[in-house]
Amino acid sequence: MADKDSIQETHNYHLDIPMKNELFMLQGSNSLDWGMKNRLSNIFNPETGRTVMLAIDHGYFLGPTAGLERVDVTIVPLLPYADTLMCTRGILRSTIPPTFTKGIVLRSSGGPSILKELSNEEIAVDIEDAVRLNIAALAVQVFVGGEHETKSIHNLTRLVDMGNRYGIPVLGVTAVGKEMVRDAKYMRLATRICAELGASYVKTYYVPEEFETVTASCPVPIVIAGGKKIPELDALKMAHNAIQQGACGVDMGRNIFQCEAPSAMIQAVRKVVHENMSPKDAYEVYQNLKKEKK
Ligand code: R5P
Repeated sequence: MADKDSIQETHNYHLDIPMKNELFMLQGSNSLDWGMKNRLSNIFNPETGRTVMLAIDHGYFLGPTAGLERVDVTIVPLLPYADTLMCTRGILRSTIPPTFTKGIVLRSSGGPSILKELSNEEIAVDIEDAVRLNIAALAVQVFVGGEHETKSIHNLTRLVDMGNRYGIPVLGVTAVGKEMVRDAKYMRLATRICAELGASYVKTYYVPEEFETVTASCPVPIVIAGGKKIPELDALKMAHNAIQQGACGVDMGRNIFQCEAPSAMIQAVRKVVHENMSPKDAYEVYQNLKKEKK
């Protein structure tokens, strides 16, 4: 017990300062518990409410994807520029330094390889292991309209139940099958289903037309996947358009790690996401950093 004699009389109640009751920075997230909000704050920058997630989980069904052959050599140097890393627990334990203290979004579904029907996924992690890894969110693929639609949605709802028990948010990842039309109508359907069924935030693809209706009809934050490698300026334009149309960030993989200068690219993407920089200016940042090899 503290020394009784040293206890000072309390008097500094700051009666003129009302206690702050601030809203949490992310839409649709006010009712979440403290632990969830704390974890989400380790994914989304609390100052901008946005995130640059570096996605390197492709190997869970693709094996050693181009650019990810040696994660220790090509990805670890990029970590200072990412708000969050999305990866599998295998790569996390084997290759990511535990001194990386930003959020980890853990790939939590899997099963089929690229050689099989991709929608046939199962939950691929035990919640206790996720807690042990101190992750910030669980990510699960949802195949709306896919062959195993119901199973993949059930994976999401089970992970939401598990996550809720431990204060871990779930990222619903909308996977668009080859047979689906990648348009706003489909994205509205898929993202809304993820949110309705409890995802704390949702990843989707950018669509050039009516993307603002996708973000408007989804009550929780949306981040966009980068998709296949396109020219750097086009990737920056896509990120810029998505942000201006209501997305809260990017979960970008190939358009960063398959670039000639991945470090320059992720820094340019940060400018677009966190500083609303125009794609043209961000591309200039990319080119300058590339020249300087930074
Ligand atoms: C897809 O397999 C993974 O969930 C990726 O994390 C996602 O597609 C984002 O990566 P990329 O920007 O390369 O599409």
